[in-house]
Amino acid sequence: MKVFVALLLLVQLLSYKAVRIRPHGPLNLRVIDCDDPESEEAAAVALNYINAHHPHGYKYALNSIEKIKVLPRRPFGEIFMLELDLLETMCHIVNPLPIENCTVRPLTEHVVEGDCEVKLLKLDGKLSVLSSKCHSTPDSAEDVTEICADCPILALLNDTRVINAVDLALAKHNKEHDGAYLRLLEIGRAQIQHLPDSVSVEFAVVVTNCSTKDAQDHVDDCQPLPEDLTQFGFCEAAVTSKDNVRVSCAIYEHQPGVTHRHLIHDHLGGQLPTLALGVKHHDLRHFHHGSVHDKSQSSSAEIPVGLQSPNPVVKRDVGAVLDPAISHPPIDPTPQKFPVCPGRIRHFQV
Ligand SMILES: *[C@@H]1O[C@H](CO)[C@@H](O)[C@H](O)[C@H]1NC(C)=O
Ligand SMILES: *[C@@H]1O[C@H](CO)[C@@H](O)[C@H](O)[C@H]1NC(C)=O
Ligand SMILES: *[C@@H]1O[C@H](CO)[C@@H](O)[C@H](O)[C@H]1NC(C)=O
Repeated sequence: MKVFVALLLLVQLLSYKAVRIRPHGPLNLRVIDCDDPESEEAAAVALNYINAHHPHGYKYALNSIEKIKVLPRRPFGEIFMLELDLLETMCHIVNPLPIENCTVRPLTEHVVEGDCEVKLLKLDGKLSVLSSKCHSTPDSAEDVTEICADCPILALLNDTRVINAVDLALAKHNKEHDGAYLRLLEIGRAQIQHLPDSVSVEFAVVVTNCSTKDAQDHVDDCQPLPEDLTQFGFCEAAVTSKDNVRVSCAIYEHQPGVTHRHLIHDHLGGQLPTLALGVKHHDLRHFHHGSVHDKSQSSSAEIPVGLQSPNPVVKRDVGAVLDPAISHPPIDPTPQKFPVCPGRIRHFQV
């Protein structure tokens, strides 16, 4: 008898444990819409991360949230998987303007679209990026000419005419301004127009420790200011001939902690970095962090949607039948709610 009681206790203990082992069932999966404020909050965190980390070219703005999945993470928190559609803005990454203040490039200027998959962790209401993977592509030339037949399309960044235009524009700026001598950091984009021939370029610059006078004598000694003083700038120019150069540059104030070390390192060697050879824009794929599909860090912590029990209510019904007060025929599985996605388009469809 004692053995029996002990066994009974053990069984009870075990079954109690068995129940306690899975305090959250798959019911914990949450479905939220792409335009839900919570999705938008996650997208904003992802976007800031992407803009703060991608090392070349321009900042991107959110165009739409394509997909969102929210998975429980054991023991705490949730995993957000986002797919975002982005558009290139007119702010180069050296531009300190917050992304909300950056203008999206209009369709007539040959837009560049970005696609990102971002995985975030939400813990205690705080979102952080675990991994992200992006790429970007310019709109097709056919699309651009369809909108406006005369709109110039993006040119190769290493096109000789582009490099010449940038050199002429920067030389003109340095000649006509008394301030610090500027050096080229990166050509952001270029468009070549025919009849009349004109090359439009945009490029990022860095302020050096030379005056433009110093530079005339020993330009090779002109180096970017030390990191606690670094200053960047951005120039736009249109060059129709050697004698017809329009250029305007904006120099940004020093931003504490912003060094863009990779830009200075990659670009001040005198030659174009290999990244800029044979391409028309700086692809977002050159930056990625972690692997969105890598489950190694949290495989046991996530429940893939596919494995979700289609009708988790069944198990409870078995017990419920014992109580006549709440006995009822098996209810239809509640129609599964699908998120309303993709979300709204903030700018335009490309
Ligand atoms: C950005 O835009 C907001 C709202 O339009 C404005 O209040 C703010 O001054 C702008 N910030 C900068 C740095 O221009
Ligand atoms: C600028 O910095 C470089 C390297 O630090 C130094 O060799 C050069 O003399 C400096 N030039 C001026 C004008 O201060
Ligand atoms: C630009 O780079 C590509 C790829 O390296 C090369 O094939 C092409 O000849 C370059 N164009 C010019 C004008 O240098």
